[in-house]
Amino acid sequence: MVKPRLIAMICLAVGTVLAGCTGDDRAAEPSDSAAASSTSASPGPPAPECNDPDTCTTRQLADRAGVTLGTAVDASHLDELEYRDTLLATFNSVTPENELKWESIHPGPDEWDSGPADEIIDFAREHDLQVKGHNLIWNQDLVDSTPDWVLAIDDPDQLRRVVTEHMTTVMTRYRDSVDRWDVVNEPLETIGSGLYDNHFRQVLGDDYIAEMFTIADTAAPGEELWLNEATVEYQPDKAAALVSLVEGLVEQGAPIDGVGIQGHLVAGTVDAAALGQLVADLEALGIEVAITELDIPARDPADPLGVQASTYREALGACLAERCREVTLWGFTDRYTWIDATFGEGLAPLPFDRNYQPKPALAAIRDQLTAVGEP
Ligand code: XIL
Repeated sequence: MVKPRLIAMICLAVGTVLAGCTGDDRAAEPSDSAAASSTSASPGPPAPECNDPDTCTTRQLADRAGVTLGTAVDASHLDELEYRDTLLATFNSVTPENELKWESIHPGPDEWDSGPADEIIDFAREHDLQVKGHNLIWNQDLVDSTPDWVLAIDDPDQLRRVVTEHMTTVMTRYRDSVDRWDVVNEPLETIGSGLYDNHFRQVLGDDYIAEMFTIADTAAPGEELWLNEATVEYQPDKAAALVSLVEGLVEQGAPIDGVGIQGHLVAGTVDAAALGQLVADLEALGIEVAITELDIPARDPADPLGVQASTYREALGACLAERCREVTLWGFTDRYTWIDATFGEGLAPLPFDRNYQPKPALAAIRDQLTAVGEP
């Protein structure tokens, strides 16, 4: 799904702001003392009671604070005990990382494969986790999830029929288990602020985004329908374009309930005030806002893990200071992260290391949840 030119193109456009652009910066493994300072967050079964934040699991801190703390999950790791235990002690929500994407679940016109998505959703049910549905429409040149057979459809009515069938089948199947759907993922240019000129726009016209929301609403009335966008955190023009795109959708009565800001950040580079303002501007349109794919490559040469932790603190703070009450991470252990394959290995963007030991970033997340949960 990730096409190699992506990295080169993004690096060219934003220099070293994104991870992987120089290729040789590597986060150090956490020191023993860093891990030891966070031992209260060690994975394990949830404690029966949680009165003292120091003894609460991170999941309990999130529940106590009324915050959805989520993670992307890959079905193929669910049979790994440490993966499962760490996930269950830390998060109250999951997002299938790839399993609900068009290419995965509906790879051919008459071919469906819901097995891996079902595994995650059964697991979530069994453990009382929320499930976020990612995603229904995502087409770009460099990384996306639209299969070639859909890209070959040039007739608008046929494309509408195929989209309707896709959404109806997937959304109906998971009607009782998925809390919300990312209807359109990344409709704006990756670098820039125009509409991405993707296949759906080319065949259906500029109004395709509103049309996708209407089709989703008809396919599964009453579901929560969201738009999800990337790289707005360090492109002010793109952030403004996102606000006006959503404003336009709201004004024309499109059934949009929320916006996800992905949050693929880089340690030490976040303008927390601008991020908070973006959250506030979107909320002012009467919709919900969440951070949906947070990960933070550790790139500070002097203090990779410390600066990474403070960036996690700032990102959560920017969300939680507004009405935003969901932060979903794009994975949780450096053992499994899309950053390795996309921007180069060793950038260690997540709050647990490769051996599931908590990093300072986890302590930062716990501090922010504790602050919200204080009576
Ligand atoms: C990524 C997955 O993590 C990878 O496993 C896959 O190969 C490509 O997609 N923005 C998104 C997510 O909306 O769906 C992407 O997930 C990461 C960027």
